[in-house]
Parts: sequence; C-alpha cells; structure tokens
Amino acid sequence: MAASGIALVELDERGVDKAFRADVLEGLSQWPKAIPARWLYDDAGSQLFEDITALPEYYPTRSERQILEHRQADFARLIGPGRAVVEFGSGSSVKTPLLLGAIDPAAYVPLDIAGDFLRAAARDLSAKFPGLPVYPVEADFMKPVTLPDEVEDLPKLGFFPGSTIGNMVARTAVDLLRSMRQTLGESSMLLIGMDLIKDPQVLIAAYDDAQGVTAEFNLNLARRVNRELKGTIPVDKLRHVARWNDTFARIEMHLEAQEDIAFEISGRAFAMEKGETIHTENSHKFDRRSQYTLLLAGGWTPEERWLDSEGRFSLVLASATRPRNAP
Ligand code: AVJ
Repeated sequence: MAASGIALVELDERGVDKAFRADVLEGLSQWPKAIPARWLYDDAGSQLFEDITALPEYYPTRSERQILEHRQADFARLIGPGRAVVEFGSGSSVKTPLLLGAIDPAAYVPLDIAGDFLRAAARDLSAKFPGLPVYPVEADFMKPVTLPDEVEDLPKLGFFPGSTIGNMVARTAVDLLRSMRQTLGESSMLLIGMDLIKDPQVLIAAYDDAQGVTAEFNLNLARRVNRELKGTIPVDKLRHVARWNDTFARIEMHLEAQEDIAFEISGRAFAMEKGETIHTENSHKFDRRSQYTLLLAGGWTPEERWLDSEGRFSLVLASATRPRNAP
C-alpha cells in the first residue's frame, strides 16, 4: 500500500500483477512484438542492473558520478542552499549524497514506486545527513505527485540521474518532464542525467557486455513471464541483442528467436519465427541540441551543462520555464 492508501500494484485472485499480464499479452499480440522496459526491474532484474553498473563496458554510472564529484562548486553557485531536493525514482539513492553535500538543501524527498527500497534508502540518507528532514513518498513519478505539506513553501530541485529519461520515447519523455514541472512548481530547477550519442561500438559494448550480464538482465524478463504468468517461453532459444538505431538515436534491446518457436502465456498461444524479436528496451542518446529541444518541449529552460572528462555523459541543469509571450 502506498502512503496515500492506494495500491500501486493491483493483483488478481491468483496474485498475478494485472498490469504486467495486460502489457505482456498485448505487447506480444502486436507486430513487432514489444514489452515495456519497466517490467525488466523485478528483484532479480534490479540486482542484475546493479551488477551492470559495475561492468567495465557500462560507462554511464561512472561518468555521471565523476561529474557529480567534480562540479560541486558549480552546483552550490547555480542551485544554492535551501531547496527541497525531489529525486525521481530514487531507488537506492547512491548518487544523492554527492548532490546533497554540495548544495545545503532544506529537505530531501525521494520518490519511488518500490516502498521497501525507498524506506531503506531514506534511513541511510538520514544517517549521513543528520540535520536534514527526509520525506519519502511512495509514488509512480510518471504522473504528477502531491508533495508532503512540509516542503510546500520551499523552492524545489528535481533530481533525475542515470539517463532514465532515455528509456522513454520523446512523447512520453515530454509528458514526464511536464508532469515534473507541475509537481515541482514555479521557480523550481531540474538536474537531469542524459547519456550522449557516441561511437556505436562503444554503445553496443555497454549494452552487450563480454560477461553476459546485460544478456541475463534481458533474458530475465522472459524468465519472469514464465514464472509469474504461467509461461512456457523456451528461454534457451532466445538470444539477447543490442542494436544501435541511428534514425532514433537509441540503443535497442531485443530478445531474438534462434529458431521457430511456439509457447503459451496465461493460456494464450504465441509463435515467433526464427530471427523475429521481442523489443524490450530503448535507451535514447542525445546531443546538446536534441537534449535542449526535449527539455524545452517539457517546460524546462537549460541553464548549464556538464560532461565527464571523456565527453561520454552529461548532466543538465534547467529551470522551470516561465510562461511568457515570445516570438
Ligand atoms: C537504467 C535505463 C539508465 O538505459 O542505460 C542498462 C538500463 N539497460 N543496460 C540504461 C540498462 C541495459 C539503463 N537505465
């Protein structure tokens, strides 16, 4: 149960997550087949993603951390003290202390859909910053969120690291940015991590590592379908594929059938031809103009942009655009 008393996950009589089943049955009935990426993150998937962040090929986590470590003085100057920091999808909040330590905030509000994770992270954070009020909120941040009364009158800083925005197609990303602006209000700011377009070989290696951890992360989705939705997908006949889609500037993860296969999920029959794929994730990459266009479309005016020393990843600071008449 969420703090508001509204269940964030709806289960049927058999304990099956209804939204998961609906997304999988619908996604595999269309062509090309696709399953929304959010379902990659069950307990096993979340652990595998943590493992990915430590891989030599997976640079985003290290690059973003380097920026957070090196730009503390810039954050202090441009963001200043006294804000309520609202972190979207805080997860384990590992990057947060670097930001909080730099800006002397008035409160910290981690938002996450996974309540257990959220409360554990909030406790860790409180231990590191004893004087800082922490107000965890269990919520789906894709929709506007009502923040705790205690922070109502404080100016806000949204924090959205990790390039999670890159998981969304432009339309969804703009919806999210606009809903963040509504959640955070006038005179708020946003610090957002966005991964950059680079040599496709570097990108593909980051999403198809030599140890096969990303392959396991992707294949875990098929295993999860089998486990939770009475599925018979022959997982050993599927192969993890990471592709660079240059038209849309994104890495795509797919599960590709190595031969013709047929299987059932929740009593429904499905088939895949050899070479057919299930599209499981997009990870969009940006350049300066594409990221600014996206932010502006979402109601945020870019103020400053930082790259890591190898120019692989970016953090952008933006302020809530004030409505005004302009040419
Ligand atoms: C958590 C969405 C930022 O897109 O880089 C990592 C997820 N997928 N390897 C990303 C992911 C495969 C990751 N994000």
